[in-house]
Amino acid sequence: MSARTLFVTTALPYANGPLHIGHIMEYIQADIWVRFQRMRGHTVHFVGADDAHGAPIMIAAEKEGVTPQAFVERIAAGRKAYLDGFHIGFDHWHSTDSPENVELSQSIYRGLRDAGLIDVRPIEQFFDPVKGMFLPDRYIKGECPSCGAPDQYGDACENCGAVYAATELKNPFSALTGATPELRVSEHYFFRLSDPRCVTFLREWTRGNDRWGEPRLQPEVLAKAREWLGADANEGGDAGSLADWDISRDAPYFGIEIPDAPGKYFYVWLDAPIGYLASLKALCRERGLDFEALLADPATEQVHFIGKDIIYFHVLFWPAMLHFAGRKTPDRVNVHGFITVSGAKMSKSRGTGISPLRYLGIGMDPEWLRYYLAAKLNSHVQDVDFDPDDFLARVNADLIGKYVNIASRASGFVTRLFDGRVLPAEEVEDGAQRERAARLAAQVADAYEMREFSAVARLVMAYADEINQYFDAHKPWEMAKDPAQREALHRVCSRCLIAFHRLTVLLAPMLPATAARVAELFGTPPLRWEDLDVTPGTASPVRSIGRYRHLLSRVEAKQLDALFDAGAEAAKPAAPDSDAGATISIDDFARIDLRVARIVDAQAVEGSTKLLRLELDVGEARTRTVFSGIRAAYEPAALVGRLSVVVANLAPRTMRFGVSEGMVLSASGEDPQQPGALYLLDADEGAQPGMKIR
Ligand code: 2FM
Ligand code: ZN
Repeated sequence: MSARTLFVTTALPYANGPLHIGHIMEYIQADIWVRFQRMRGHTVHFVGADDAHGAPIMIAAEKEGVTPQAFVERIAAGRKAYLDGFHIGFDHWHSTDSPENVELSQSIYRGLRDAGLIDVRPIEQFFDPVKGMFLPDRYIKGECPSCGAPDQYGDACENCGAVYAATELKNPFSALTGATPELRVSEHYFFRLSDPRCVTFLREWTRGNDRWGEPRLQPEVLAKAREWLGADANEGGDAGSLADWDISRDAPYFGIEIPDAPGKYFYVWLDAPIGYLASLKALCRERGLDFEALLADPATEQVHFIGKDIIYFHVLFWPAMLHFAGRKTPDRVNVHGFITVSGAKMSKSRGTGISPLRYLGIGMDPEWLRYYLAAKLNSHVQDVDFDPDDFLARVNADLIGKYVNIASRASGFVTRLFDGRVLPAEEVEDGAQRERAARLAAQVADAYEMREFSAVARLVMAYADEINQYFDAHKPWEMAKDPAQREALHRVCSRCLIAFHRLTVLLAPMLPATAARVAELFGTPPLRWEDLDVTPGTASPVRSIGRYRHLLSRVEAKQLDALFDAGAEAAKPAAPDSDAGATISIDDFARIDLRVARIVDAQAVEGSTKLLRLELDVGEARTRTVFSGIRAAYEPAALVGRLSVVVANLAPRTMRFGVSEGMVLSASGEDPQQPGALYLLDADEGAQPGMKIR
């Protein structure tokens, strides 16, 4: 295959908060794919940016008393620690609040207008009578008009993925003031997606293939798109149509001005994906490339990685915008599922779970996470669970027990007895072994290309198993005692080291830092896919090995404890004398939602000496799980049926064993000799679960 030129992006994170583990998973997925393409000799322009605009950022900046630009800049300055920390190799990181994006957004808009796809019409919009402004979608909440899920934002449903107008929400309220919003009239600009041209184009586009004959959308994504687009007319179905898309917002708004429309700004979701192009444009300037030529070149492949929550924007709005503005549309939109932590769903806005910076801060190796997530990722839109025990077992078994084990066992003999000289691959591998290696390389390449990373891990570890078995079967430690077996020993260890080098090439997209250390160990240039070539006459790059250096450590259980203990640290009460005399107002007290709870189940937590897992009836539709550190004081069985008091509005906290959804109250003294002296609070019989304590 001749060299490809790829333009690859990940979804642009809102510039109103730090990156969470969900962002990191997406970046790792895309980065692995990009590194693989680069190792194959292809050219990749891999870009990201902050999604800077929108009312939430404007409001957050206003609260802090800074300009939105200053606010966004501060957030942007924090990105590097995450990206470098997890070895994410973006070529450029930009912002949607940039001259490139203003220019591109306005020009794409003009293209749509010239195509007759922009309409202006008055609409009734929610106005917050207390705050005195039109309410942005994100500040209106209510029940999803499609599935009825409560507490959904005014633009899209986190539960079913539906996209709608805020006015369609059931029982709306202002998230800024709690007021019931009023409808007022304002002129808005619309992208006329209802135009039959749009539906016809999108029906074609969503079903299309990329240039390699692979469907441009995953089957489950295509199915969603077809639901939204309605069944095909030629299949006897309803012609269907899309609702027009409201792309304007009234001042005050932090965004890009709409040309010839004073006081009107593009809705953030209009200019956000254009930010992909803006970032590429900035990169091109940096590198002296012609942006328009690169992008328009039919040979350039445009590939987006996104999460399942923003499919609608990327497979309907985005390609339609590009197409009708006369630009090239994406070749692929690669959608992944969410990351859960110990089975608990994370929320974009409420992002619980693992703190990426804490992970790095306590010295956990980013390559563990890269490998662990890769080993669970495939080409489907499936959620991926981070399970701490599984993480420890998987990383230690695969990376340390199988992969690194080969080098750490074989290298010593070669450096000590053979001066570090590794025998040529052609001499120590037979035809079948070389064929096996060639087949493996081809299978792994296919799996990377198709984003079947879990298959990569499986294939690679199966090969590592074979090599370990080969090593064990030959017992080099015994051969080393017999001078007559020197030559044979040299061959066995050389073969293992060659295989180890090969494994490293195969894993390099996942483990770039480890791969760099291995290249140094063997004194070879940075690893390339060509290093796997075993066709006769191709010299293996492996000639010698230096003194074995530490390549990767094991994960320790205590590191995972530290990772999940973040909440505990933050929740520690201040020492009693630290703020002597401080009082709180009755309003402060009222913020704590104390409720009567009935303990319906209590179990010891395996792996913890302190915790009990309590199931609590707090008068809600379902019970809550709360982890409580009272194991030393209570037999679980004795607690079942008792009433107690729970802090019901404590933010859920992800612990090693699951998510704790509140806190039960107990009294304790200060005596460290009596750690078990804990006394659970209770309520007199007759109190009902869910009753408020005041
Ligand atoms: O959902 C989000 O977090 C958006 N900020 C994603 C934007 S992706 C692209 F369109 F910019
Ligand atoms: Zn819904």
